[in-house]
Amino acid sequence: MTNVTPDPTQGPRADPVDIDGLMQDGDNHIRQGRGTQADLSFQEVLAHQPDNPDALQRRGFLALLRGDPGDAVELLSRAMAIRSDDATLCGHLAGALMACGNLDEAISYWQRALELAPDYAAAYVNLGDAYFAKSESALSEAAYRKSIAIAPDNPKAFVSLARMLHFSNRSGEAEAALHQALELAGDAPEVWNLVGTVLLEAGGLDAALELFEASVRKAPAEPQGHTGKGIALHMLARPDEARAAYRRALEIDPRYPLARKHLGVLLQECGELDAAAECFRQLLAADPNDDMARHMLAATAGEATASAPAGYVTRLFDDYADRFDTHLSQISYRVPEQIRDMVVDIAGGEQLEWRILDLGCGTGLCGEAMRPLAAFLAGVDLSPRMIAKSRERKIYDSLITGSIEDALEGQERAFDLIVAGDVFTYVGDLASAFAGSARAMRPGGLMAFSIEEADGDHYHLCPTGRYAHSPAYVDKTAIASELSVVRRRDIVLRNDPEPIRAQIVVLARDA
Ligand SMILES: C[S@@+](CC[C@H](N)C(=O)[O-])C[C@H]1O[C@@H](n2cnc3c(N)ncnc32)[C@H](O)[C@@H]1O
Repeated sequence: MTNVTPDPTQGPRADPVDIDGLMQDGDNHIRQGRGTQADLSFQEVLAHQPDNPDALQRRGFLALLRGDPGDAVELLSRAMAIRSDDATLCGHLAGALMACGNLDEAISYWQRALELAPDYAAAYVNLGDAYFAKSESALSEAAYRKSIAIAPDNPKAFVSLARMLHFSNRSGEAEAALHQALELAGDAPEVWNLVGTVLLEAGGLDAALELFEASVRKAPAEPQGHTGKGIALHMLARPDEARAAYRRALEIDPRYPLARKHLGVLLQECGELDAAAECFRQLLAADPNDDMARHMLAATAGEATASAPAGYVTRLFDDYADRFDTHLSQISYRVPEQIRDMVVDIAGGEQLEWRILDLGCGTGLCGEAMRPLAAFLAGVDLSPRMIAKSRERKIYDSLITGSIEDALEGQERAFDLIVAGDVFTYVGDLASAFAGSARAMRPGGLMAFSIEEADGDHYHLCPTGRYAHSPAYVDKTAIASELSVVRRRDIVLRNDPEPIRAQIVVLARDA
């Protein structure tokens, strides 16, 4: 607790403030779960002592708990400037940076925390999670193993390790780590929920459902188990039961965002767009930085936006990367081969040694189809986990994690062919992608991509959160960038479950 020494430079106060008392009030409120009142006590301390590191740290921690990581970073950085050798404070700041998506800075603060406290086992788990989010599998594995060496009875380290091992296609070892986590967990439903979540990502839906059901039996008043159960049922195509599970979670905690988010998606899938929009509106009110809620609110409320937010796309595909190839093979996705066949046909049987850029390369399905035509093959994608999957194929000469704009920036006549398979479903306004691609192509070079097809003369953001473009819109946007339509073909993009009407379009840069 901070002791207050009178500041001799200040005149006498008529009403001296009991800083210790305010700090104690705040801590009591925290213990009783009254975050708002606690924050008010610490605010009052800071009104009198703006640099009080205890009050800054506690306010930062409370901001993190209530899901406001931007505020948390600001407060904790101020505390850190005063108290740079406090490992716990350093860890809180790293956690807040991570929640803001600032992985590199988070990693450097976790490392600093570990320099200050080398046995800080939880920091190693978090460091591993940050590396995993960057798809640095070897570094994340080393961090998890270090944590396990320090604290071998912490089941959470085994869950994180299992997730990483599964993502690296080491399923046997992943399963062993999950068993270890369950053994150590004993009767702890929060660990069952974590294990269930890893199983969901790995596609073990029935086993995940069993764990969430056990969790609900053990802790019926906690929203986590109900939500996990809902997600498993949802993925098992049992929408009514999933809806009931999400609703139960929200009865327990009306602010529980994971349940609200999945209920919103379920309602959208059932065509109940007003109710879905209301879910996303509530999520956005609780967290104005929630990209997914912002995008899906626009989609379900029928608003047009220019593009899906990068944060939404990254999260969506990071979560999907592990299941992507298996899922697409089940829904008749053939765009990569269809693009390849069309450009080979246009090239007229020449032996091709093209320089090719794969926009939104994902796990590398287009790259695989294009490789036989390529002297040089580059790929770009917003999602680090999709890029990690592409890298495993060992077919690209260059891969970058970034946006379409990042990949096209500064490129002049660098490519013979630019492809984008099922990517413009996340980009509404195509003007910048077309202009950048036209600059990056040699004269006569080709650009080949798929679109979900819309009627009319513009593009739409569909309730699914995907964009559809009309052929008329594609034509006029291409012409504005001195690109001409060489060929187009009607296709079924995928069966999801209904066939999605789409086109492959090939443009050429005017000579
Ligand atoms: C449906 S996947 C298709 C992947 C791959 N092209 C294929 O045909 O399998 C769409 C991919 O586009 C990426 N993406 C979407 N918008 C993007 C953008 N603006 N910049 C870079 N990548 C983007 C996503 O991260 C995702 O990996």
